[in-house]
Amino acid sequence: MSKRIAVLVSGGGTNLQALIDAQARGALRGGKICAVIASKPGILALERAAKAGIPGYVVARKDYPSSQAMTAALVDKLGKLDIDLVVLAGFMVILTGEMVQAFPNAILNVHPSLIPSFCGEGCYGLHVHEKALEYGVKVTGATVHFVSEECDGGPIVLQKAVDILEGDTPEALQRRVMEQAEWAILPQAVALFCQDRLRVEGRTVHILPPRP
Ligand code: GAR
Repeated sequence: MSKRIAVLVSGGGTNLQALIDAQARGALRGGKICAVIASKPGILALERAAKAGIPGYVVARKDYPSSQAMTAALVDKLGKLDIDLVVLAGFMVILTGEMVQAFPNAILNVHPSLIPSFCGEGCYGLHVHEKALEYGVKVTGATVHFVSEECDGGPIVLQKAVDILEGDTPEALQRRVMEQAEWAILPQAVALFCQDRLRVEGRTVHILPPRP
């Protein structure tokens, strides 16, 4: 049976768009994007969902007294929607442990660096690329990982490297990491999950061959 996917977003939603495009070309076999949940109203990602005919919802941090209460509301919503896989695609709110307990090894996050470099609390979005340039690394990239209770610390599913070029700015690097890495590996990881091809053993995620 097809897995029901919810994509959680906070901004522009280019990674959501990569998932929508992958679904349209049949590359998410075994899964279906059934909901897009935004952490604030009025964001471009919700427009992308509407255009693709995917129901959009808002669960905003400011409507709840604590992040625990917001997490509980999200878990409740995902349960009602009968979701099998949660994808954090540029979702900028840190959720509490209840989320991971409700969806063990069933939440994927995309992060714009090669974890364990340039990750963890406070390291998100453009900051990640600023830090990579400040440090002077020659290679960066993107990671898709399962979400655990440790921020950016869960088992790694896929990674892709991107070269840093002379004269790179954080903005130019952010764009190239998205184009060359994130938009490719996020749909790929989602498809592998939906086809039951990911097996987690400790910190290692084994990728199983396609079923005949
Ligand atoms: C992406 O680069 C994503 O990897 C990053 O935010 C951007 C969202 O862009 N996520 C994080 O930094 C999470 N720690 P998008 O809204 O266009 O997909």
